[in-house]
Amino acid sequence: MKIREIPFLAMGGEYGQDDLEAVINVVTQAIGPKGNFFPLPEENDFQDAIAEHEGAEKAIVVNSCGTALDCCMMALDIKPGDEVITTPLTFVCTAGTAVAQGARIVFADIDPVTMNLSPEAVRARITEKTKAIIPVHFTGLVCDLDGFDKITEETGIPVIYDAAHAIGAKSNGQPIGGRGLASCYSFQSNKNMTCLGEGGAITTNDLDFAEKVRQLKTFGYVYGGPSLRVVDIGFNYRMTKVQCAVGLTQLAKLGQLIVKRQNLMLALSEALHDTHEIILPYGHGPGHASHIYVIRLNTDEVRFTTPEFVSHLKNTYKVFTGKHYPAVWTWEAFQKLGYTSEGCPIAEKACEQVVTLPVFASTTMDDIEYIAWAVKATIQDLQ
Ligand SMILES: Cc1ncc(COP(=O)(O)O)c(C=O)c1O
Repeated sequence: MKIREIPFLAMGGEYGQDDLEAVINVVTQAIGPKGNFFPLPEENDFQDAIAEHEGAEKAIVVNSCGTALDCCMMALDIKPGDEVITTPLTFVCTAGTAVAQGARIVFADIDPVTMNLSPEAVRARITEKTKAIIPVHFTGLVCDLDGFDKITEETGIPVIYDAAHAIGAKSNGQPIGGRGLASCYSFQSNKNMTCLGEGGAITTNDLDFAEKVRQLKTFGYVYGGPSLRVVDIGFNYRMTKVQCAVGLTQLAKLGQLIVKRQNLMLALSEALHDTHEIILPYGHGPGHASHIYVIRLNTDEVRFTTPEFVSHLKNTYKVFTGKHYPAVWTWEAFQKLGYTSEGCPIAEKACEQVVTLPVFASTTMDDIEYIAWAVKATIQDLQ
């Protein structure tokens, strides 16, 4: 095949005329004598649309998934002396959010097939200090929701889902935003839908928790009484009006974009199904949000390392890849705090094997064919 470049794009969603018109509309209104950029009413409309889309009673929009997780940790009063359990195979802020409140993060191992946090492994790590569990719907594949519900039923420990990858994912045909105590979403620029660079949301069925989170994201304000009250120390984690308006146009086309991604990822799995040197991702297809396509190099079967595979694919075949993720404990900040791989051998191995192939909503079937060919050729060259 003729060599061509397949970049690893920083853009997840697709922008079009609809998004442009939403921006122009907000700016046009702001030009008028009463114009301003205070988020209402777009914020309320976007929140209602997310709650409905994700099957939750309430959605609160914030400026990132990181701040969504922070609000949840603060609303749960996570503090020094507490423990919060999560997966090591995640973006740094899933773990950092509890550490930022002075708590200790405890890593539990992942399921070897789905690569999601294993409820059984979590159970083994629960102590009387455990105050929350943060599973991640890794790549957009829904976690074992029933397994985590059971833990909450038995122990009372709340579950906050990191759903950064998973807007639009479904479990048995149902949206997932009402599961656990809350779910935290990201609309940052590489996600399946984006809000001009940054954005996030918290969904929940617990109206008291929703109100607490809403206060935390807006200076601790309570509205509606005879006068404005400030009941807690809060912050300004609001999204802008322009971002909320674009969030609405993005959400309207999300379903189509996910199906496009699912089809591309299914086609890649089909093209690679007989390549035993790699472990294909589990579960792409209906229900999966298909945010990223993460293979594992079967390091037990090949004579080369993951970095060698990645650099050959790039240097010889111009296919650029990502890494989701290095294990959280390998980051300097976590090393300094004494975190290790202890108790997580499956995640430790997976983090050394993962390679994210460049599949996005804008990828074509020709690109898929080329990527599959380049992966196979790389393995053949290096074996
Ligand atoms: C699993 C996971 N959690 C949280 C985040 C943070 O999202 P944001 O950039 O919106 O803060 C990301 C972002 O990439 C992520 O991948």
